Amino acid sequence: MAKITASVYTSHVPAIGAALDLGKSGEPYWQPVFKGYDYSKQWLKDNPPDVIFLVYNDHATAFSLEMIPTFAIGTAAEFTPADEGWGPRPVPKVIGHPELAAHIAQSVIQQDFDLTIVNKMDVDHGLTVPLSLMCGQPQAWPCPVIPFAVNVVQYPVPSGRRCFELGKAIRKAVESFDKPLNVQIWGTGGMSHQLQGPRAGLINREFDNAFLDQLIADPEGLASKPHIDYVREAGSEGIELVMWLIARGAMADVAGGPAPKVAHRFYHVPASNTAVGHLILENK
Ligand code: DHB
Ligand code: FE
Repeated sequence: MAKITASVYTSHVPAIGAALDLGKSGEPYWQPVFKGYDYSKQWLKDNPPDVIFLVYNDHATAFSLEMIPTFAIGTAAEFTPADEGWGPRPVPKVIGHPELAAHIAQSVIQQDFDLTIVNKMDVDHGLTVPLSLMCGQPQAWPCPVIPFAVNVVQYPVPSGRRCFELGKAIRKAVESFDKPLNVQIWGTGGMSHQLQGPRAGLINREFDNAFLDQLIADPEGLASKPHIDYVREAGSEGIELVMWLIARGAMADVAGGPAPKVAHRFYHVPASNTAVGHLILENK
């Protein structure tokens, strides 16, 4: 049977992608950001997944106000990096895993979650920047990726609780897939940031670090945090953090297994307008 072996959490700042693509990652401003992922790149080589289930948000790129799916699973064979206004990022195309994606869609919908099934979709920085941070600049991404897009852009957005419960359902879905695949689940976006209005530039280190602590030790309690707390404390775009609860809900301890091992933890400010947070949790 397939199995979730680890979860990875990371911010997805678009300027990080641009820094890499334009050869600026060694500059003094960016160097400390990328240094935080040196461990992670080696870890991914040492712990290679067969498939990455990548929870992220689309930023009005593939979707728009014309169509707003709350949860959308990419079931296609491949996904092209999107043109977000400056041309597509010069990164490899994303190879999907239609068979596992279709199985997860079947299982999760039968567990009473409504998913939108997407057979054609370009993927924006929300998906490609986490891959770049974890993999560097390879000719091809190391394995197939199932994109899972969550609406955190246009209200109403799903609650932390719903995201956490969905993670549990995804775990059951993966564990009922009849092939011995090693699956990692990644939760991306966040941490604190606000890109608009009078509070633009807001960063809250205390909130972010408390979020990381609670995500590790008390995800059940964290799932009860209401939207308004994210918006007040972590800024309007800090709401992206609810996506981390999907990945956390898929970990073994939530289903009665042992607590995960914290393989890596990193926090840095600033990167563009955003605090960068990153965690790797391993199932034992
Ligand atoms: C920034 C952060 C984001 O999450 C995003 O989607 C766009 C921009 C930023 O920090 O500039
Ligand atoms: Fe974002």
